[in-house]
Amino acid sequence: MSSKNGQFYLFANWKMYLDFDESNILANALAQNTKKFSKNIKMAVFPSALSLYSVGQVLNDIGVAVGAQNLYWVEKGGYTGEISAQMYKAAGCQYALVGHSERRHLFKETNDEVRKKLESALSCGLTPVLCVGETDKQRADNRAQEVVTEQLQTALSGLAWPEGRELIVAYEPVWAIGTGNNCIASDAQTMHEFIKKELEKILFKSSPVLLYGGSVRGNNVAEYLSQTDIHGVLVGGASAKLDSWLEIVERAVF
Ligand code: 13P
Repeated sequence: MSSKNGQFYLFANWKMYLDFDESNILANALAQNTKKFSKNIKMAVFPSALSLYSVGQVLNDIGVAVGAQNLYWVEKGGYTGEISAQMYKAAGCQYALVGHSERRHLFKETNDEVRKKLESALSCGLTPVLCVGETDKQRADNRAQEVVTEQLQTALSGLAWPEGRELIVAYEPVWAIGTGNNCIASDAQTMHEFIKKELEKILFKSSPVLLYGGSVRGNNVAEYLSQTDIHGVLVGGASAKLDSWLEIVERAVF
């Protein structure tokens, strides 16, 4: 099994699957099942912005962090409907997803915008989880590495990474997200190794935490975690239900 400093990262992106009540019910159920969480698991949950604070109140007590699914890069001002990195931080977030493929593709977020979000997260003490990945067309055109390189370079070139801050990159091939068509673990490993080398070139020194995301389930999680450069998973659909999430947790550690 491959881990980062002895820990596997199990990150749960609840997307827009759960309303306020449902989020709190799931958080409480997770808290009641804490005995199932082994010490070598680093867990974080990314609830909706509405439920993030109350979910954090429940989960922080059991050592589970919360994170934002998205953020805006200006701290305060007339930006109706937006929430800044500083606001998320003040509400108890430790992490923030930036550049999730649903943001990139459904909401047309550009690499430059992802960069601003990442910088903003870093500046206020949040740890960004930079999401990268190619579409099925880009993969078919043999452009997966080129696309991922551009996403990494635009987000990170010239940055002085803060001392002690985790550098987390999630490889989430777009075609594997929410489709049940998960990336073969050895293919994901090949891309992770590539990403690790690119990060070394871009940031000169780096010891990244690399997560795989895209149709992770209980029956495939262990295979990902057994790869040399896959330190954890970022799970969508299967993380928003108690049974499927606990199955992932159990299969990840045993
Ligand atoms: P699924 O696990 O539903 O495929 O989603 C993955 C994802 O987008 C996590 O951020």
